[in-house]
Amino acid sequence: MKITVSPTPLAEQKKGALVVFCQKDEILLTEENDALKKQLADLLKKSAFKGEAGQVTLFPVNDGHAIVAGIGEAKYFHNGLLEQAAAAAVKAGRAAGFKSFAMTSTLALEGVSETDYQLLAGRGAAWGTYEFTTFKTATKKKKAAAALVFAGPVEDRATVKAAEAQGAALCSTADLANSPGNVATPTKIANWAKKMAKENNLTCSVMNEAELAKKGCGGILSVASGGAEEAKMIVLKHAGTDKTAKPIVLVGKTLTFDSGGISLKPGKGMEWMRYDKSGGMAVLTAMQMIARMEVKTPVVGILCAAENMPGSKATRPGDIITAYKGKTVEVCNTDAEGRLALMDALGLAVDLEPRAIVDIVTLTGAVIMAFGGAAAAILGNQPQIVNELIDSGLTAGERLWELPIFKDYSDNMKSDFADLSNISNGTGAGTATAAAFLKEFVPEEIPWAHIDIAGTAWITAAKPHQAPGATLFGARTLAQWVASQD
Ligand code: BES
Ligand code: ZN
Ligand code: ZN
Repeated sequence: MKITVSPTPLAEQKKGALVVFCQKDEILLTEENDALKKQLADLLKKSAFKGEAGQVTLFPVNDGHAIVAGIGEAKYFHNGLLEQAAAAAVKAGRAAGFKSFAMTSTLALEGVSETDYQLLAGRGAAWGTYEFTTFKTATKKKKAAAALVFAGPVEDRATVKAAEAQGAALCSTADLANSPGNVATPTKIANWAKKMAKENNLTCSVMNEAELAKKGCGGILSVASGGAEEAKMIVLKHAGTDKTAKPIVLVGKTLTFDSGGISLKPGKGMEWMRYDKSGGMAVLTAMQMIARMEVKTPVVGILCAAENMPGSKATRPGDIITAYKGKTVEVCNTDAEGRLALMDALGLAVDLEPRAIVDIVTLTGAVIMAFGGAAAAILGNQPQIVNELIDSGLTAGERLWELPIFKDYSDNMKSDFADLSNISNGTGAGTATAAAFLKEFVPEEIPWAHIDIAGTAWITAAKPHQAPGATLFGARTLAQWVASQD
């Protein structure tokens, strides 16, 4: 979506639909749009619109139309609701035939700065245009362009540019993220990453299975051994301008399909396991955002891409494998495969002598038990990085909630036969025991955070702001946090 600025006040914008945000019955327009505000207030009084989060209504105003989008009650507000309201408005507007939209350049809402508003609303508007039509033969090619204007004074256009870049990054990755396991294979993702790198001035190198074997990456290879698709370790680099700085490394779990392997998952809902690559998709998206925002800090993205299948060469429960750098792991459950691919990727990340490592993964069903779709879990080895990421998440509209890695959990991951077991010998705390396992692969002095997005990476039912499918949760936070490190 093209996003531009115009000094002309919102009410005088002539093209397309005007988008106005509403917190319950409070229309969030500033004085210069008083006349429009009064007009809308009268219309709202007579309507069923209550300004609930996700609620959207179209009203005729002047000689055009206004789309009013709700963000709900103040006490429940978080930035994500604003981004979603913008997406819902554009989604509804496009369904009604609009191609261009205008919003005010400032929002009369305490606690949300002008730049945060422009980023959230602009990015949300862009996301509202996204439709996954790749496999719908009738609508495949119908993706009409859309435009957004921020009406009113804009001092610094950098945020508007960032919103446009981030919106484009989300929309460009979404087709890949939504594609099923037979299409979005590790090889396909590697090729996609190479092309994306070229377009965004990143470098991309890919390790195939022979190279992974030579390096001793026994984790990712054991995951991929039961399937026909070749595993790939994909490494993207953003050079940045700060040549002396150590890189930040972002690691994404990229399981193109997780059947569970020999510890086969139940059939019901297994089709959603095509979204087990969502961590990698968030990293691919964040890397594009970082490149387009010209972040100064060098950043490396690592995707461990593999498929978990129960073929005749599959890893058996009880098999002992060796991770990159030598730790041995007893694989007691082949469905706890993400951590096996991740342990190699984390080892490779450590080799880069990074200033910090963040991994983002659809790692445990337990995180869905804990938070549903309302938040992702964050765990780490130092409080500062965890707190920074939580803060960046709040700004970026993605909620992260911290869980502890007690020593008890690390003890639970010991094996009688190898250095570690890939499942806990205790009960419960599945998200934290998985993190305790990964913690073993990162030296204590390197700040490391682990984000489990199994509950937030996709939605199974339509919402006003998006159709069922990948949310690319985490990309926004990672980009926000990385930029804050400059
Ligand atoms: N990919 C799954 C986690 C998952 C579950 C993601 C549901 C999204 C929705 C992961 O590989 C897995 O299967 N984890 C197991 C670990 C267990 C065997 C210790 C789980 O959470 O059940
Ligand atoms: Zn699994
Ligand atoms: Zn998995």
